[in-house]
Amino acid sequence: MQVEFPEKLDFLFEPARYKVAYGGRGGAKSWGFGRALLLLGAQRPLRILCAREFQNSIAESAHALLAQQVDLLGLSDYFDTQEKRILGTNGTEFIFKGLRHNVASVKSTEGVDICWVEEARTVSKASWDVLVPTIRKPGSEIWISFNTELAEDETYKRFVRTPPTGARVVKIGWEDNPWFPDVLRQEALDLKARDPIAYETVWGGNCKQVLDGAIYANEILAASGASPSRFGKVPFDPSKPVHTFWDLGRADKTAIWFAQVVGFEFRLIAYYENRGHALQHYIDYLRTVAEERQYVYGEHWLPHDARNELLASKRTIEQQMWDAGHRVRIVPKLTVAAGIDAARLLFARCWFDEDLCADGLQALRNYRYDVDPATQQFSKNPLHDWASHGADAFRYFAVAIAEPQAPPKPLDGPNDRYARRRRSDAKPSGSAWAA
Ligand SMILES: Nc1ncnc2c1ncn2[C@@H]1O[C@H](COP(=O)(O)OP(=O)(O)OP(=O)(O)O)[C@@H](O)[C@H]1O
Ligand SMILES: [Mg+2]
Repeated sequence: MQVEFPEKLDFLFEPARYKVAYGGRGGAKSWGFGRALLLLGAQRPLRILCAREFQNSIAESAHALLAQQVDLLGLSDYFDTQEKRILGTNGTEFIFKGLRHNVASVKSTEGVDICWVEEARTVSKASWDVLVPTIRKPGSEIWISFNTELAEDETYKRFVRTPPTGARVVKIGWEDNPWFPDVLRQEALDLKARDPIAYETVWGGNCKQVLDGAIYANEILAASGASPSRFGKVPFDPSKPVHTFWDLGRADKTAIWFAQVVGFEFRLIAYYENRGHALQHYIDYLRTVAEERQYVYGEHWLPHDARNELLASKRTIEQQMWDAGHRVRIVPKLTVAAGIDAARLLFARCWFDEDLCADGLQALRNYRYDVDPATQQFSKNPLHDWASHGADAFRYFAVAIAEPQAPPKPLDGPNDRYARRRRSDAKPSGSAWAA
């Protein structure tokens, strides 16, 4: 059978632990990867995991693309396209999984020969850290394809800037695609004429410093341009308490920043997010990291809804936290815009641990304004997506710090034993910030 590939993708047929193709749009990455996997899977039985960072349904996976390629390549005799899998008559199997917050399912995927991570730009550090050691069969390979966006994207740093041993990495663009459709060629040329800078990223595949519409664009540029950069290794000070700042998002998404106040510096020393867990999971997490890293906790700042939200329990989150022996504060209610302003002001005094806050920083870098569908301009409202939870927790951090003094009177909560604890635990001077 004669199947053609762009020359730059020839390496897909040579063994390598990592095969990475990145660049602008239309570089024949998806088709090339999909076709190569089908050809290899038709030759011998392979277990192929097709992964993406976000996959809420099979429709968001590479399933449709592979099914289409089975038809185009005339391989219907070799493959049976099922609802959630594609099976080869020789025993080859394609399975599809989302990575984010799916640790247990990813870890339990045994015997994978090839893992293809498609649209890999936004794969988080936490996801890579779980996925890579899961692909452990001798000779197993990890294939990665993505469109370039930010120079600081975890995937870009990990596989392009400092690629691991045994990685084959190619940049591939529409110029390398002999079948580049004319409609797309016109799109590319139009954008080049209209907005050459945007063209550089979208079609040229060159990284930018900040995303268009990024809410903290200036602050991030200032922090990374500072000398020394305020993104780096941030020391933990064992003589100071660790405060935490929480977002309790929709669908049980929870994000937590861990911070210390040292002199005039705010040190963001760690970040954690997850979803689909009851509060006990996070309480256990707090304990585990405290043991590992010798944290002594100060205050745990929760958003307002902690007074109402239950996370699979009869008691509110606030009550459960008190019962677990934690000192809880509720972040004052402020508009999103005012919270963003507070965060912008605070940014200049923040130092971020690049490693332990990697996923939180990724959220801050990707937190952006929504586009108004009527005008196609950026609106005043942040886009609600995967990045907003970490960014919301950071906003609460700023609001809490901006207004740390008098603890809020528990007027709007029940005057129960939790409220009494809240009052008795609050220091006479207000909060534990100055500690
Ligand atoms: N091997 C091939 N044979 C024939 N046509 C191809 C082949 N590879 C790519 N094409 C054509 O080029 C188009 C773009 O390819 P593809 O979607 O794989 O690019 P991509 O790099 O994944 O793009 P994006 O960056 O937008 O995800 C396809 O829609 C198809 O029309
Ligand atoms: Mg693609």
